[in-house]
Amino acid sequence: MTKTKNKDETEEKSSKSSSKSKTNSAFVPVQPFEIIVFGGTGDLARRKLLPALYHRYRDGQISDDSRIVGVSRSKHSRKAYQALIEKYYHEFAKDEDFDAKLWGKFIKLVDYVSIDVIEDKDWSALSKTLSTKDELIRVFYLAMPPRMFADICVGLKKAGLVNDKSRVVLEKPLGTDYESAREINAGVGKVFKENNIYRIDHYLGKETVQNLLVLRFGNILLEPLWSNQAIDHIEITAAESIGVGGRGSYYDGAGALRDMVQNHLLQLLCLTAMEAPTSLEANDVRAEKIKVLRALRPITEESADAKTVRGQYARGKVDDEAVTDYMSDVDVTESATETYVAIKAEVDNWRWAGVPIYLRTGKRMSSRRSEIVIQFKPVPHSIFGKTRLNPNKLVIRLQPDEAVKLWFEVKEPGAGGMRLKTLPLNLTYADNFAVRYPDAYERLLMDVVRGNLSLFMRRDEVEAAWKWVDGILEAWEQSGQRTVLYSAGSEGPAEADDLLGGSGHKWSKG
Ligand code: BG6
Repeated sequence: MTKTKNKDETEEKSSKSSSKSKTNSAFVPVQPFEIIVFGGTGDLARRKLLPALYHRYRDGQISDDSRIVGVSRSKHSRKAYQALIEKYYHEFAKDEDFDAKLWGKFIKLVDYVSIDVIEDKDWSALSKTLSTKDELIRVFYLAMPPRMFADICVGLKKAGLVNDKSRVVLEKPLGTDYESAREINAGVGKVFKENNIYRIDHYLGKETVQNLLVLRFGNILLEPLWSNQAIDHIEITAAESIGVGGRGSYYDGAGALRDMVQNHLLQLLCLTAMEAPTSLEANDVRAEKIKVLRALRPITEESADAKTVRGQYARGKVDDEAVTDYMSDVDVTESATETYVAIKAEVDNWRWAGVPIYLRTGKRMSSRRSEIVIQFKPVPHSIFGKTRLNPNKLVIRLQPDEAVKLWFEVKEPGAGGMRLKTLPLNLTYADNFAVRYPDAYERLLMDVVRGNLSLFMRRDEVEAAWKWVDGILEAWEQSGQRTVLYSAGSEGPAEADDLLGGSGHKWSKG
């Protein structure tokens, strides 16, 4: 008896300690490469790309014969650029990750070339800086306004810098509508083959977004319930507490629909709603995603009012601090640009007929929270008399406090009859994984070098997403739908509650 107990205890202990791995030693070194970052002094390079490359170097994934070349208009010597990116690192990345000795080695990989991609005809300074080694994988990262993508690609070709191993990475948003996206894709496609084009959506590089695939297709339990048979509705939320910051000139022309829905939210919708791909190969996954995009029911002038809400933040308080309104932030006196959008989307196929998929995203909301909520149907008949039963709910918290929670009805123990309580089975990442989660860009940059396209968007995917979004933009214009105000620090406009209310639904509180 005692013996058995001890054995069970030992097994439980060892399974607990192995499930909470402390180190992340799984980084597999990639082949030597050179990456040329156009927009090398820009916001993305400062905040994300260069810190991401340093972190991958620190973990031994990038070898000393790789190279990083920043390209931008401003004149800097190599030394001055190296000093600049160290300054940016301390400003934007976490200092606890910093190791001065390693940084000293990393910075030796970094070089800089000044080119005005529009004015300069001669790109020989870049050719001279790049390696002559044919075996080196060459990645061009275009962290620039998309209208320049095609010209840069042509410039690269003219300068003789593109070979079979060259890859180009295109930052989002790819264009401002379907037509402009098509033009950009066609221009880039004249220089690079589709298999060498990496259209990035950093949401796909997030650990928890990748976990969606594992949750859905690595477990048998969910799949039989994953349809209109058991699911009542779905919510996909990406709420931010930040405002538009210094990006006003871009943002005021874009708005939340183009900035967040066309890419991040629709990608989350695809991963949630798609059929099981036959493998994780890029084209298998993309083939399933595109079917979802094509099945999205168009939103028209007639349905826009009932199915969409566009909001803009007014002044208010976020984290107890007074913040200004959107128009002051972007320094304009008039703007209908939406910083919030809520949409009732419908996927017209057998699996999802009758299941609304509510999308919502906003800036200056009460807190930062991205999550997918799968709201199951009520049981068909209650045997518990008048006791109210809460239908099951699966909450996939993408960020922060990454977690998967499955809410159940359980019997509250003790006397007093059959009292029910709604409680979650809680798989919180922090309790189970003690590793640092690499930033999405770290994973995606290494995937580009590895040649793995699975987490990048294919041309037809981006264009299909634009088609649906164009329909909404047109509907807004034709119907003259107003942008309503919401207080900064709130849950968004009250109209968004009505959007769900018509179907008897309520936004989940997580
Ligand atoms: C970017 C948008 O793509 O995603 C930004 O352009 C937004 O406006 C950002 O703030 C949100 O990303 P994350 O990873 O912080 O959720």
